[in-house]
Amino acid sequence: MCNIFVVVLLPLVAHAQAEDSIDQLANKLVNSFVARILKAAPLDDADLDDTTLAGMTAAAPSSLRSVSHSPFPLVNRMSAHRSPFPVPYSELPVPRSPFQVSNSRIAQAFNVPRSVSASATKLPYKEVSVGLVGYGLVGKELVRQIESKPPALGLAGLTVNVVAVSRSREMYLGSGAPNNANAGNGGVPADLTKFGEFMSTQPGRKVIVDCTADDTPPDFYAQWLSAGVDVVTPNKKLGSGPLARWEKTFDAARSTGTRFCYEASVGAGLPIITTLKDLLRTGDSVEKIEGIFSGTLSYLFNEGGGKDFSVVVADAADKGFTEPDPRDDLSGLDVQRKTVILARDCGLKVELDDVPVESLVPKPLQTWEPTEDEKKQGLSKVFIEKMKEYDGDMKKKMDEAEAAGEVLRYVGMVDVKNKKASVGLQRFPKNHPFAATQYADNIISYSTEWYTPRPLVVQGPGAGAAVTAGGVFADLIRAGRGSPPFDGQGGL
Ligand SMILES: NC(=O)c1ccc[n+]([C@@H]2O[C@H](COP(=O)([O-])OP(=O)(O)OC[C@H]3O[C@@H](n4cnc5c(N)ncnc54)[C@H](OP(=O)(O)O)[C@@H]3O)[C@@H](O)[C@H]2O)c1
Repeated sequence: MCNIFVVVLLPLVAHAQAEDSIDQLANKLVNSFVARILKAAPLDDADLDDTTLAGMTAAAPSSLRSVSHSPFPLVNRMSAHRSPFPVPYSELPVPRSPFQVSNSRIAQAFNVPRSVSASATKLPYKEVSVGLVGYGLVGKELVRQIESKPPALGLAGLTVNVVAVSRSREMYLGSGAPNNANAGNGGVPADLTKFGEFMSTQPGRKVIVDCTADDTPPDFYAQWLSAGVDVVTPNKKLGSGPLARWEKTFDAARSTGTRFCYEASVGAGLPIITTLKDLLRTGDSVEKIEGIFSGTLSYLFNEGGGKDFSVVVADAADKGFTEPDPRDDLSGLDVQRKTVILARDCGLKVELDDVPVESLVPKPLQTWEPTEDEKKQGLSKVFIEKMKEYDGDMKKKMDEAEAAGEVLRYVGMVDVKNKKASVGLQRFPKNHPFAATQYADNIISYSTEWYTPRPLVVQGPGAGAAVTAGGVFADLIRAGRGSPPFDGQGGL
């Protein structure tokens, strides 16, 4: 590895100083590097992973370091005269299957088929065209992060252009889509079929990012993936929706070599799904997963010791942690959805209803409907007032846990060995990692054949626009680099 590095790098640096622009140099460097290492068989699978690229930058002479860290301008290459739909959707070429490319990580990283001659090799995707569906908190933050041009894009030799934005009613296609969406300029009625058609004609790797919480976009994922467009999302609805739709979506990705990435749908930016997939791919056997997957419910139990439950819920509502109707958090549905996503990733073919969930909404309030007058006072405020009557139930559970030297936590659990999953309150000893969570932390523990008797634990903030968009962006780069999934399964 080291020798190749020196041989490739030095002539390029000298050449660069003579005449190349920064962009050209970066592209030449990567292309030449790939061409040379493809000639040098046999290849080591670890040759050109992210770490190596990062290492190249750190070890490079200062002239080259400045190249790697230089800003890569985001150029929108949409031309005004180009018809938005030059090729009928149905006639688009089927993207290359992951099985046609080499299993070497070098070829995978750049989507280079083994059969291509070294002289013809070049980075296939320098450009990533992004279509954003859902332009709320996370969607806007993602655009901000993309436009800040982080170093990862330069290292991977990528430019990322947001070429389309869809809100629920209008969509904005073409150059300046985010600005037009902000200003409400030039929108046309939203149509997710047309949105997919438009995206499939865009240059470079095409990625649709679904930043809604809606159930409609997931109906289109299979169609988009089949047309050669990757899909990235923090939306939980595909992963926890009907199993048939979930299977159809992964089949579409698998058969066309496109990617469906959904890391941010559980624990926002925390590496929860990538960690799980890495364990499974490397041959570990996952026996049990347990986690606190709701920041809101985490806060209620972290901060709730010795207080009435309704008081802590009111405090969480004041801090903006709860949904407008706190029952949406307390029902456990959000945790149930995340548990289903993880269960399916572990191979359990479960539907949402197969996962029993313990609701924290007192039974009589589960079906309560506010009157018009109560709605005017504020649903959340009235609901929390009504909860006071039931504070004794939670106090009893907390006191019992305290007396046993334990704490209460609201946990999603996947028992892979026994093919079961469930969601509800559990007690943990005070020296357990789940007892040490703070504020609104998420935490997950993986008990596996290798990670035993101590489990692998991932912990940190599991919500917030910045960390969620960061998780989505990391998926976007994974898809945008054009590498097929390691296991050919179509996912992360
Ligand atoms: N915020 C977080 O901390 C966080 C953490 C983890 C995961 N997530 C997930 O990230 C996703 C986005 O969250 P967010 O906080 O950004 O929500 P948000 O602020 O409510 O934004 C979602 C946007 O989607 C739009 N939308 C709804 N249906 C649509 C459709 N059919 N087509 C196009 N646009 C549609 C809505 O805009 P209009 O109706 O006005 O067009 C809304 O502004 C959700 O799935 C959420 O669960 C969020």
